[in-house]
Amino acid sequence: MTKVNMKVNIAGVELKNPVMTASGTFGSGREYGEYVDLNQLGAVVVKGVANEPWKGNPSPRIAETYGGMLNSVGLQNPGVDEFIEKDIPFLRQYNTKIIVNIAGRTIEDYCEVVKKLGDADVDLLELNISCPNVKAGGVCFGTDPFMVEEVTKAVKKVAKQPLIVKLTPNVTDIVPIAKAAVAGGADGISLINTLLGMAIDIHKRKPILANVMGGFSGPAIKPVALRMVYQVANAVDVPIIGMGGIMTGEDAVEFILAGASGVAVGTANFINPRATIDVIEGIQGYMEQYSIKDLKEIRGSL
Ligand SMILES: Cc1cc2nc3c(=O)[nH]c(=O)nc-3n(C[C@H](O)[C@H](O)[C@H](O)COP(=O)(O)O)c2cc1C
Repeated sequence: MTKVNMKVNIAGVELKNPVMTASGTFGSGREYGEYVDLNQLGAVVVKGVANEPWKGNPSPRIAETYGGMLNSVGLQNPGVDEFIEKDIPFLRQYNTKIIVNIAGRTIEDYCEVVKKLGDADVDLLELNISCPNVKAGGVCFGTDPFMVEEVTKAVKKVAKQPLIVKLTPNVTDIVPIAKAAVAGGADGISLINTLLGMAIDIHKRKPILANVMGGFSGPAIKPVALRMVYQVANAVDVPIIGMGGIMTGEDAVEFILAGASGVAVGTANFINPRATIDVIEGIQGYMEQYSIKDLKEIRGSL
């Protein structure tokens, strides 16, 4: 078998392959150690970390639906101090890049986390701007181009690592949002986060999630995600990490053809704990089948 070169460069950081874990679906890697050799992954993207520990939302907070799942976990996390103390040393034992997903309720919150991570041994930051902005009355940062630029600018000013901004798909037009992130100084864009959804138990005549609504993810959202990656790749000049319903290597190749430099595997991990490895092998098989030496040859080539 010919060995292909799967290396990719995301905002100046070289990954051995484009495959990473989607934030919130892989913890900080410990839970999957039995199934996945973390050394094989391009990067581990960890669950969102906030300045203070967050309790998350009440249960039930997961519901299965056709082609996907709903979650209202609510960014539960132990806070950045514990993350730096316990999770970074664990992940650093492996030859993989570390991308830290950041949660916050105010611009100051985000900046505090990023400042604390400045001296920590992490490769990239991924800013989750799907959180509600408490100062703006709960509106999600990521739905307003003005706020997207403001929060990106403020975080970029204090960030020591390259900054990826992760966008929410719950907007009418993703392009001005992506452009606002780049105008604020984003070194890359991740998309998509979950779509707002709902499921109802007809026997109890009640919503299944205690929080009523939740984030919809999994195979059913792939066409929406691909469409947004394609639109954004044609509108901005920074690398894109694509995600949303990737289950196989073929799915990942679709995202790369649409313009993604990296791909993240989320909900698939819950169905097949080795999904990330299957996706890596699937991309490799595709490259060998079509004699593709470097993913640059096909990226955004539609
Ligand atoms: C249980 C769960 C928790 C998640 N937590 C986070 C999070 O902490 N931060 C974040 O940016 N995205 C979070 N996400 C969104 C995923 O990272 C990903 O963007 C989304 O699920 C789409 O990919 P998928 O269809 O492959 O799951 C979460 C998704 C799920 C299912």
